[in-house]
Amino acid sequence: MTLQKTEKKRRSSDADGTILVRDLAVSFAHRNKTVYALHPTSVALEPGASTAIIGESGCGKSVLLMGMLGFLDRTAHVSGSVQYRGEELKALKGARKRGILRDRLALIPQNPPESLNRRMVIVDQLAEGVTGNRRQRIELVASELRRLGLEHVTPRSQTHRYSFQLSGGMQKRALVAAATARSPEWLIADEPTTGLDAINRADCTKLLAEAKQSVVGGLIVVTHDLHLAESLADRIVVMYAGRIVEDAPAKEFFRSPNHPYSRGLLKAVPSRGAIPIPGESPASSELHDGCPFAPRCIHSHERCTAELPGMYAARRGAAGDNQIGDHQTIDRYMSDRHGHVRCFLYADD
Ligand SMILES: Nc1ncnc2c1ncn2[C@@H]1O[C@H](COP(=O)(O)OP(=O)(O)OP(=O)(O)O)[C@@H](O)[C@H]1O
Ligand code: SF4
Ligand SMILES: [Mg+2]
Repeated sequence: MTLQKTEKKRRSSDADGTILVRDLAVSFAHRNKTVYALHPTSVALEPGASTAIIGESGCGKSVLLMGMLGFLDRTAHVSGSVQYRGEELKALKGARKRGILRDRLALIPQNPPESLNRRMVIVDQLAEGVTGNRRQRIELVASELRRLGLEHVTPRSQTHRYSFQLSGGMQKRALVAAATARSPEWLIADEPTTGLDAINRADCTKLLAEAKQSVVGGLIVVTHDLHLAESLADRIVVMYAGRIVEDAPAKEFFRSPNHPYSRGLLKAVPSRGAIPIPGESPASSELHDGCPFAPRCIHSHERCTAELPGMYAARRGAAGDNQIGDHQTIDRYMSDRHGHVRCFLYADD
């Protein structure tokens, strides 16, 4: 496919509801230094495909989501672009922002207490973004709440009227119910099942699977639960130390992951051996030259400690020249679906 055709396709799919992230970077000031929580990252999230973003704690998963949606506070310096339906998402403000986030891009946040108003009756709060009159909105939310075992959370309830009267797990389920009731175009969930017991986790997973079928856009789920990722996602994005290190179709990823870190993540799953990855992921403030995974990588070689690997096509020869610049990732993803990996093992040079 020629570059012009790829660009044309990219523009038309942008209008169709693709979320196009280009060079999105997030940094914080730390002891007079600029510390990157997210290095310039480009990814195209296309309608019809659900994506799971995985990686160890602190690798930048939530910062990527919050940066995309313009939810980071003023301490964060955000650069780059996030295009959605012809608008710059992270620049949206006021009513326009609330409208898009309510009707099209519903977020289930990682920390429910921070996003719930303690003074407002919870059902009213959850029904805010749902269409219809008040009775219809509350009934819709109530039916989703019932599906998640929260039938006692009603406007008249004396014991479960406000968010502070709900446990953390109940709050999480309530936010999942509210997001699915809004029938958004994209459902974006940051750790939707963390902190839930096995039964509630299963109910929640079922609801997300149903939502995946009904949303026109797709599901973007950040999770540590690789079973959840495998059951819901068509595409897996792996992050390490503030960068995407692998981006692959889910089936291929779970059959044969490419990046040494991804292989380690899968081997650490109890059903696949429960072998932990030795060492720890580096703090953003302690990154040195070279591949950030090098100290933990059994394949590390001289080049890995001297140079930062770029993104390479996972299948050699799949799209000609194997290396792709970060800024080219989106266009290449559109034309080359075999996935990409940030590792010198895939370099031709
Ligand atoms: N407001 C902030 N100020 C300074 N550093 C921050 C801030 N928010 C996030 N960070 C840093 O950015 C990095 C990425 O954080 P992020 O919350 O995205 O991690 P995560 O991958 O979502 O982890 P987890 O799986 O634990 O939720 C971390 O090192 C974190 O300490
Ligand atoms: S670039 Fe080198 S250190 Fe990094 S993952 Fe690949 S082989 Fe390992
Ligand atoms: Mg997080």
